[in-house]
Formats: sequence, C-alpha cells, structure tokens
Amino acid sequence: MNTHTARAILAIETSCDETAAAVVGLDRSVRSSVVASQVDLHRRFGGVVPEIASRAHVETVNAVVAQALEDAGVEPEDLAAVAVTQGPGLIGALLVGMTAAKTYAFAWSKPIVYVDHIEAHIWANFVGGEETPLPAVCLVVSGGHTTLYWMDERQQLTVIGETIDDAVGEAYDKVARLLGLPYPGGPHVDRLAHEARTPVRFPVPLAESPGFDFSLSGLKTAVAYHVREHAERGFEPADVAAGFQQAVVDMLVLKLKRAIRHFQPRSVLAAGGVIANSAIRAAFTNLSAQLGIPLRFPHFSLCTDNAAMVGMRAVDLFLAGQIGELDAPAYSITRTRVSS
Ligand code: KG4
Ligand code: ZN
Repeated sequence: MNTHTARAILAIETSCDETAAAVVGLDRSVRSSVVASQVDLHRRFGGVVPEIASRAHVETVNAVVAQALEDAGVEPEDLAAVAVTQGPGLIGALLVGMTAAKTYAFAWSKPIVYVDHIEAHIWANFVGGEETPLPAVCLVVSGGHTTLYWMDERQQLTVIGETIDDAVGEAYDKVARLLGLPYPGGPHVDRLAHEARTPVRFPVPLAESPGFDFSLSGLKTAVAYHVREHAERGFEPADVAAGFQQAVVDMLVLKLKRAIRHFQPRSVLAAGGVIANSAIRAAFTNLSAQLGIPLRFPHFSLCTDNAAMVGMRAVDLFLAGQIGELDAPAYSITRTRVSS
C-alpha cells in the first residue's frame, strides 16, 4: 500500500519512563497502544534516573513497536507515516525514540512527523475524532508540567499560566515519599485520601494572588513540616493525603475558574498524568456543570504517558502536511511560550 492510500500512523513515545508505541488511524481511531513501564527499575531510587531510562528504552523500543504493529494487524507498508515525541523530556530518553523512529521512517521510506509531548497530552482528548468547540482553555497537569494554555481556532497554543516552582505530579510524588508510599506516588495518595476521616487543612497555594500561575513548593513544605511535627505522637497518613489533595484540587479549580471567566473559552480541555486523579476529575466535572461549559478529559488510561496521544497529534500534523526532516534534533525543554 502506498502513502496516499495508507490510513494509519505508527507513533513512538520515549520522553520519560514509559516506552510506548501505538498505531492510530487517520480517522483518529486507536488501533493498538502498548506501554512498557519502567517504574520497577526506578522505584528503589524514588524517581526517574535518566541514564537508566535511556538504557531501558534502547532495550525495549523495538519490541514495543513490533507489538503495536502486531496488535493492530498492520504491516509497515500499511503506514502513512511514522511519528515520534521530539520533546520536551529527558534528552537521552527522547533520543532513543527519535533514533528508532528515524530509522523506521528511512528503512520503510515513510514520512516522519515530530510531536510535542505536551500537545500530545492535550490531543489525548481527541481520540475517536470528537470535535471540540474552540477557542479552548487547556490545563496540562503532569509530573513535569502544570500549565494553562489558550488554544485558538487554529489549534495554536499560548501559555496563559504555569507553575512558578514544582509541577503538581512532582509534588504528589514527594508527598507520597513523605508518607512512605511507593513511587510514583500520585495514584497511592489518590487511593489513600479516600480513607481520610479528618483531613488536615493546608492553605490553598496562591489563593490570594491574582493571575493564572500555580505554586506547589509551599504546600509541599507545609506537608513536610506537618509530618515532622507529628512524627513522634503519630499521625494519620490518610488525613495528610486528603488534606494535600484538597489544597491541590482547590488551587486548580480556583485558577481554572478564573481563566474561564477571564478568557471566555467555548470549552475546556484537561490533560496529563495527574488528570487521572479521582478527586480532580470529580471537581472538574462539578465545575463544568456549575459554569455550563463543556469540559473534557481523556480516558483514564490515556492520561499518563502513552503513544496513542502522540499518534492523535501526529494525525493533524500529517494531514496539514507538517512532515519533518530526518536530521531534526530532540529538545528537552518546553517550546510553547507566551506570545504577545
Ligand atoms: O503525564 P505523566 O505520565 O508524565 C509526565 O509527562 O510527567 O504524569 C506522571 C505523573 C506522576 O507524577 C504521577 O504520580 C502522577 O502523574 N499521577 C497521579 C495520578 N496518576 C498519575 N497524580 C495524582 N493522582 C493520580 N491518580
Ligand atoms: Zn507526559
């Protein structure tokens, strides 16, 4: 089959600690999605070790790609293009996926499409081809990002607010460690919070300051002090988890509500690993009903890193003719910036 009649894209994602590949249709269907997590390799270090991540990607990427093609029942000649995450992320990890994708594209004579990881998180909302009323406010909350974007009618993104220190996912992982929970801590804190009886009250970060930025380091320190002060007398970890989570939810809702009122978007798109959180999903659903604005978040399984979301972004880029060169570099830091 040639590129004009081929209806599928192979997407590869290796920006952090998941080696992932997916086959998506140009109709935005997900034909296969394989995620090989390295969590077990990094757990004893309490976080992602970049060098270990790169090595594990090298060992796994080809098998993951083969599995994605097999699950989808697709041969290389059926592909319209090969897509890959170009950045932001760990540079060594990104280079593994980039090199693999370039090699496949070259060997199979397919066009290559480079995808931004943050945009891919947002595009996880477009699985299945559903249209979103634009302009939209987008909130990406992950291990590395806590950022509000404005998406205009042409799907261009502009930063309207971001964390001035830590990302929410990073804070979840640190609080989990303080509470003796395993890495990555977000899902564990989420679960534990449901068992709380008297949640500890922590101040909501930046509640009194104007604008659309976020902050997590003060809250994280408040949790650390609380744990230290109550270490001897003993404390209820579930009450700390729930108190931390409530402060995070209140901050996100406050800033999102403010952005919706200020910018008057036609819809809201939430995305990123932390959006898998049950309390955040519930609070956002309430907010959507309260303000009467469509608010979407990806299926639970597509919130954390995966390649189906990379494929979704690649479909639009490919259809818009945005084909990359084989000598393109990876980039480690975020590219989407505030424009005037
Ligand atoms: O988007 P992601 O997979 O990777 C990055 O691009 O950063 O996000 C990973 C982050 C981790 O910090 C993890 O603890 C957090 O998402 N996370 C959660 C939940 N599931 C994953 N945080 C809170 N509640 C959850 N249920
Ligand atoms: Zn991510």
